[in-house]
Amino acid sequence: MAKSKTIYVCQSCGAKSPKWIGKCNACHEWNTYSEEIESSSNKPALNVGYATGSKPVLIKDLPENQLERISTQFNEFDRVLGGGIIPGSVVLVGGEPGIGKSTLLLQVANAVRGKVLYVSGEESAEQIKLRAKRLGKINDEAYFLSEILVENILNQTKHIQPKLLIVDSVQTLRTEQLDSSPGTVSQIRESTTILLQYAKEHSMPILLVGHITKEGSLAGPKVLEHVVDTVLQFEGDNSFNYRILRAHKNRFGSTSEMGIFSMQSNGLKEVDNPSELLLSNHNENYSGIATCATIEGMRPLLIEVQALVSTAVYGTPQRSATGFEVRRLNMLLAVLEKRVGFKLSTKDVFLNIAGGIKVADTAIDLAVICAILSSDLDRAINKEICFAGEVGLSGEIRQTGRIQQRIDEAHKLGYKKIVIPVQKQAVQSTTKLQIIEADKIEKVFSQLFQ
Ligand code: TYD
Ligand code: MG
Repeated sequence: MAKSKTIYVCQSCGAKSPKWIGKCNACHEWNTYSEEIESSSNKPALNVGYATGSKPVLIKDLPENQLERISTQFNEFDRVLGGGIIPGSVVLVGGEPGIGKSTLLLQVANAVRGKVLYVSGEESAEQIKLRAKRLGKINDEAYFLSEILVENILNQTKHIQPKLLIVDSVQTLRTEQLDSSPGTVSQIRESTTILLQYAKEHSMPILLVGHITKEGSLAGPKVLEHVVDTVLQFEGDNSFNYRILRAHKNRFGSTSEMGIFSMQSNGLKEVDNPSELLLSNHNENYSGIATCATIEGMRPLLIEVQALVSTAVYGTPQRSATGFEVRRLNMLLAVLEKRVGFKLSTKDVFLNIAGGIKVADTAIDLAVICAILSSDLDRAINKEICFAGEVGLSGEIRQTGRIQQRIDEAHKLGYKKIVIPVQKQAVQSTTKLQIIEADKIEKVFSQLFQ
């Protein structure tokens, strides 16, 4: 294939140069030049979906495409995707190295009904075989290809005609149209664009693996996130067994869904009842622990909040939080000082959400506050109580959505009491679960510790 001409383009102002230069002459920014393919015509680099001479059509007359989603055979995965993989869509699965992306996708390759081509530029055939054996039954129609050149990948894809293509990882891809090495911004972007065009033209879905850096962004261009249809993040802590799959962007489904897996010696297993997994099974009452009924995606989830409050050794007290925003923690501490009169300004406060989970639901505030108070007083909260409620700046407990679902989940898991904001409408309760409505944290405090 003839090589196209490449040029260097400033990513900040768009100025072009035949050579790489460190400082842009036009906008004076540093390190903004990256290699790009020069298109001879005025054709846009990404011409997916455009046909020359196309005419406007009434939206009501647009043809309906009966897209039948392909099931990954993992309920948790399908749900995050919005019900399965849409033919022709490109899904990027991002995650830190070692979290289990390759394991997950190899399991999908093994489980999907029909032909699948699994391309890896990272692992050898022997490694893949070993892993596949470890994961159990091997799909009769799953092919493996060790390749990094996009043109070759697509040649083999044309030959095999798989129902699903899996590429591990986007950072190893390279196209012959560019001279730069794999992993550079331009290689990643061009290679993905070529794959994307193929996917759209042939209605063949692609699952792409992308590594993310410790800071949480995709290593490589951010632009990739705009190009693909769906961006999923596979997260969790290496020291925990659970892995969480979340959608960050999804053209074909909601982004609030979450799939939970646990990593075992023979691969990832779906977790059907995450609350049971996330709550520790200790029988004793420890101080500094409070349980929250949160909602993640469409699902209620009971999560344990752990706090440790101790006297600061150094002048400035430390505040640290895992799975919870430190700024919000500081705000809640200020509320506690001002409203309940706790002197926490000389104390170190550590907060941890059990299970390595990150919680975005603000209904966790009440549990955070109760865990902190419990640790500070060194008095345990009864294990049979859970909490759900957002806390405002004046110490008021604010409404949270979907309260009935939270109550039902608490009931299902055998809790005896749940503290919630004061409700305008009556909530359904059962004889087994007592509902305590509270409007201020002072009230909760007196209920718990007096
Ligand atoms: P891997 O899928 O290679 O991660 P990634 O592709 O995201 O870099 O997963 C590697 C980790 O998973 C490794 O530390 C071993 C662990 N693992 C298991 O615990 N059980 C298994 O069955 C497999 C295949 C891997
Ligand atoms: Mg891998």
